[in-house]
Amino acid sequence: MGTKTATIYKIVKYGDPVLETPAQPVTEFGTSELRELVDNMFETMYAAKGLGLAAPQVAVSQRLAVIDASSGEDPSARLVLINPEFLNKQGKQVGEEGCLSIPGFREDVSRAMKVRVRAQNVEGELFELDAEELLARAIQHEIDHLDGVLFLSHVSMLKRDLIRRKIRKLSKANEW
Ligand code: NI
Repeated sequence: MGTKTATIYKIVKYGDPVLETPAQPVTEFGTSELRELVDNMFETMYAAKGLGLAAPQVAVSQRLAVIDASSGEDPSARLVLINPEFLNKQGKQVGEEGCLSIPGFREDVSRAMKVRVRAQNVEGELFELDAEELLARAIQHEIDHLDGVLFLSHVSMLKRDLIRRKIRKLSKANEW
């Protein structure tokens, strides 16, 4: 009885090894644990005002990500990708990207313009999805997370080193 209140997870930040570790496939579907994880990830993402959140960002090293390119405006935009794979990538787009695990830093990143993805839902059912522009960008960013790859890997070495140095300073000052 009663409604369950969501748990807002702590989002791990750059420097935590879980973010650079390839995640393990999800093998158990339809469980209340998986449903709760997904619901809490959505609430954590909305609370942090992000468009996407991958499980490794909440210290769960599993191949699962939630995305809502409408920022919570459109309930039908809620997308859960479990064990996702690219079937196709086409074209190119360059645009600014940020990451909830690297707060305060945004850089231009080149991504495919269109993607076709195959993934499973919380019940384990396979589905395919075509996406372009912002949604395609979000999907590529989140699947990168599942492979232990951060958007910093897609910016120039110069910019990456600069950002790393700034983060190191923030860490030393206990502000990261
Ligand atoms: Ni991210």
